[in-house]
Amino acid sequence: MNQVKATVVATTVLPGSRYRSQGRTISHISLLLLKCPEIAREAKPGQFVTIKCGETLLPRPFSVHWVQGDNIAILFSVWEGGQGTTWLASRKAKDKIDVLGPLGNGFSIMPEAKNLLLIAGGIGIAPLAFLAQKAIENNYRVTLLEGGHSSGQVYPKNLLPPVINTAVATENGSAGKKGRVTDLIPEYINGADQIFSCGPMSMYKDMCRQSGTLLKGKPTQVSLEVVMGCGRGICYGCTVKTKQGLKEVCTDGPVFELNDVLWDELGL
Ligand SMILES: Cc1cc2nc3c(=O)[nH]c(=O)nc-3n(C[C@H](O)[C@H](O)[C@H](O)COP(=O)(O)OP(=O)(O)OC[C@H]3O[C@@H](n4cnc5c(N)ncnc54)[C@H](O)[C@@H]3O)c2cc1C
Ligand code: FES
Repeated sequence: MNQVKATVVATTVLPGSRYRSQGRTISHISLLLLKCPEIAREAKPGQFVTIKCGETLLPRPFSVHWVQGDNIAILFSVWEGGQGTTWLASRKAKDKIDVLGPLGNGFSIMPEAKNLLLIAGGIGIAPLAFLAQKAIENNYRVTLLEGGHSSGQVYPKNLLPPVINTAVATENGSAGKKGRVTDLIPEYINGADQIFSCGPMSMYKDMCRQSGTLLKGKPTQVSLEVVMGCGRGICYGCTVKTKQGLKEVCTDGPVFELNDVLWDELGL
């Protein structure tokens, strides 16, 4: 784990329009490229960093989106009225920001797996793009299912490794299949050896309820995005109940086996 002053290399606003999520508005999606060699060297897919966002008391957690040489990328939703993400989105090239990481335990691919199925709900593409990048480098076959509200929220294909298979579902049908990303699963589940997902907690709860049928009982890891306090195992603000007892998302996770989490106890 490193506490560094990272240099902003570039910021990009991804195409797409404002939309509502969890009762609030996301004004846009931003891609931030940060030079921080110490973190870039150590980061593994599914791990995250925390960033001190201006005057906010608590640092904000963000998944490592991909790594390129000395740089890491962060892909994030900018919430209207969200103090941290609004501050972060207004950084400019050459600004310095305080970053701590890499943190947590990321995804782990089973030795016998060859075909990986990645399921991204909305901004859940953030950690999965890094997993896809590493998996392709290590000769796994990768299929990515991606879901969003509309075509404006679909992640640009040119930013993904060219050899992965992709399929898209949008709730208004403006790109790909009309519906939710989980509606795509039946078409792709048979060829998958292991499943990795990042998306809203309600999606995981549904996936767990149907894991025998929809996921055919295949091993599935999910990345939990809970509201965090310290991000480093001190405040117990991120505790979840699992079959193995209480776990801290920031240090034991954020990646867990889908069937280990006691979803009904999370108050979703
Ligand atoms: C391990 C982890 C990895 C994450 N990775 C990403 C990522 O790669 N990209 C990304 O866009 N977001 C990610 N998040 C969520 C991100 O941390 C929050 O969106 C951000 O902290 C909001 O800050 P804010 O001050 O702008 O908004 P706030 O005003 O604090 O909140 C805005 C909205 O976000 C919700 N929220 C606040 N904090 C979190 C949180 N920690 N997790 C989930 N929802 C939250 C609030 O309930 C509210 O609806 C991640 C969260 C965790 C725990
Ligand atoms: S956020 Fe403080 S213990 Fe996890």
